[in-house]
Amino acid sequence: MKAIRGAITVENDCAEEIKLAVEELLTEIQKKNLLKNEQIVCILFSNTDDLHSFYPAKVARETGFFQIPLYSSLEPHIEGALPKCIRIMMLVEADLVPKHVYLRGAAVLRKDLTDIINIALDGPAGSGKSTVAKIIAQKLNILCLDTGATYRACALACVKAQIDVNDEKAVCSLMEKTKINVSYENGVQHTYLNGEEVSSVIRQNEISMLASTVSAHECVRSKMVKLQRETAETISCVLDGRDIGTNVLPNARFKFFMTASPEIRAKRRFDELVSKGQKVSFEELKKEIIKRDEQDKSRKIAPLKQAKDAVMIDTSDMTAEYVADFILKIIQEKI
Ligand code: DC
Repeated sequence: MKAIRGAITVENDCAEEIKLAVEELLTEIQKKNLLKNEQIVCILFSNTDDLHSFYPAKVARETGFFQIPLYSSLEPHIEGALPKCIRIMMLVEADLVPKHVYLRGAAVLRKDLTDIINIALDGPAGSGKSTVAKIIAQKLNILCLDTGATYRACALACVKAQIDVNDEKAVCSLMEKTKINVSYENGVQHTYLNGEEVSSVIRQNEISMLASTVSAHECVRSKMVKLQRETAETISCVLDGRDIGTNVLPNARFKFFMTASPEIRAKRRFDELVSKGQKVSFEELKKEIIKRDEQDKSRKIAPLKQAKDAVMIDTSDMTAEYVADFILKIIQEKI
């Protein structure tokens, strides 16, 4: 006897969607494993406790599995688990190597069974990238790589070494002896500079412009891009930055470019900094954001630019949740 597993997600707790999803999953499992109905011994179903509209096992009865035993159970609610998910375990009497089937959102959960998925989220400061990236990463249970943090750490390294960020030669020689790395705890990124955790200090506003300036140097970019690519190659992740879709991962499966008016972006940054207890002037911040955009857009290497195949989203009048749902819908349709 062999056990074949499968899972699929639905967007809404609606009978029609559940029926279609279970049908799709059963068909896909049979197709991938070249299974005949008579080889199936029984099917076990489970679903998350946010689905109530339709009994998944009933779909199997309605689609031709008249004789075999079916069993259905409700999964306990687990914090952080993939929502609206239906799982199947099919026991079969067949000489085969089971091909498990994970569809839509469920695909990204099984890192061992599915392709690595990279989502590029580029855009200027304050466009909402990092908030949206975190929501998406949490919903898809994948990593979120804040690439700006790595350039911020480079800027901090210069501040500590009292090096002018415009002095390319001095910056490059410093970079040779500087170690920057990121690690994750419960999905939260921690950024380290020469072994010291700098996640909070790099968020200070004074670091923003320095990060933009230092990020224009070739030696800085090549070192950071290497780190970013190494992460993206090994694990599914959403990367937020300026050049992910155009330069770091030109073949990323999903690309989005987020923007918003300078006024709104400055307001978002202002609220964020004030909530962290930093003292800033709104007008100054707005000027800085516009200047930083110009600098990021006009640098020679990998400037801030929308990739040709990226979906553009103007987030001026949208909440982060709305943008994340919009992006997730596009992703879910393709995986
Ligand atoms: O996203 P952020 O504000 O933390 O980024 C700080 C600076 O780092 C940004 O102004 C330009 C640079 N940066 C970059 O050049 N490429 C990236 N992928 C991310 C950030």
